[in-house]
Amino acid sequence: MNSIVDPADFPATLKCTYLNTANVALMYRGAERAITGWQKDVAENGSINFDETAEATVFDELHSAAARLFNAGPEDIAVGSSATELLCSLAWAITPGPDTNVISTDIVFPSTLYPWLRVAKHTNCEIRLAKGQNSYVNPDDIIQLIDKRTAVVCVSHVEYISGQRYDIAKLAEAAHAHGALFVVDATQSAGAIPLDAPSCGIDALVCAAYKWLCGPFGAAVMYLAPYLQNDLEPGLVGFRSHKDMWDLHADRLEFPRTAKRFEFSTMAFGCAIGLTRSIEFLLDIDIGRIFMYNQYLVDLLIQGLEERNLEIISPCKDIERTSIVAARFPGKDPAEVARKLKEAQVMVSCRKDLVRFSPHLYNQPADIEKALGRIDEIL
Ligand SMILES: Cc1ncc(COP(=O)(O)O)c(C=O)c1O
Repeated sequence: MNSIVDPADFPATLKCTYLNTANVALMYRGAERAITGWQKDVAENGSINFDETAEATVFDELHSAAARLFNAGPEDIAVGSSATELLCSLAWAITPGPDTNVISTDIVFPSTLYPWLRVAKHTNCEIRLAKGQNSYVNPDDIIQLIDKRTAVVCVSHVEYISGQRYDIAKLAEAAHAHGALFVVDATQSAGAIPLDAPSCGIDALVCAAYKWLCGPFGAAVMYLAPYLQNDLEPGLVGFRSHKDMWDLHADRLEFPRTAKRFEFSTMAFGCAIGLTRSIEFLLDIDIGRIFMYNQYLVDLLIQGLEERNLEIISPCKDIERTSIVAARFPGKDPAEVARKLKEAQVMVSCRKDLVRFSPHLYNQPADIEKALGRIDEIL
């Protein structure tokens, strides 16, 4: 299969073997140019070009791009500075009460759970976690925790260590059958896996930019189901929270009746513009095509790791696998393996006792061969 991107759009691919998207992606060059262009303009021109109208409408393009990504409408999207920031604001907006529970997993990325833990400290709601074994959670264990007191089920679509992918529609159905909200962190999936938020029954979704979306640090998006857009009072508010941000009367706050109510302040606006370019770039290629291409790379990787008798802990079933592959190197310190690979210009991560590989659309079969060759030297 031929490469699906121009390497010039991801210049680092020309100097190293980058298999570390689950940590920090290579940023699409069109995004980097948009960000630096915006910063330069504001640095040199202040509000001459970035005037009040530009500031009020600065997220419009990102609303549209993210809406296409999640098969939603632009009014269903809010922009923030990080996935964690958006999730914190959402958790306080929901504030699950003392007689309720919130469900997640004990292998989830901390930022997906901490906002709920913080609210639970305040309201005394119960936190119930499905337990992982060898970095794997049986999805039925999540479903079994849900009962009539469940206020929220919040999971990461794809677990960050193992790459385990959940059947989102099935979890949403289980949550809704008990009247609970279903919240998804798509930071480890959006951009690499097609995701139709409304038809999967997702109530809210947050997603960072700097992983599979090939965007920057400093921008993130949220999807909020239409039926929630009128009720939730965001946990974080500021002048931008008002439906007319230039209203500027401190004694009144009227939220927009869209997801925009979760936008509250200034931010590194150029990052939002950059993220727009990244999402548009990925959509033009087609997320389904990216998914298939990444699976092809991952097949080569898994085969090579198995031939070397390394223990792959990532799920291999089609419905659960992704582009994250974590392996145990028996008798070896995983941090040392990752360090030696870096010395040989192969970028991976060490997570817990595992070495995590995460190829994306800018990789080629030759990258997998190179990584396997370096692994042979280490073994
Ligand atoms: C699943 C998941 N959610 C959230 C984050 C962090 O997102 P942010 O830095 O935008 O808060 C990470 C980072 O690794 C992650 O893996």
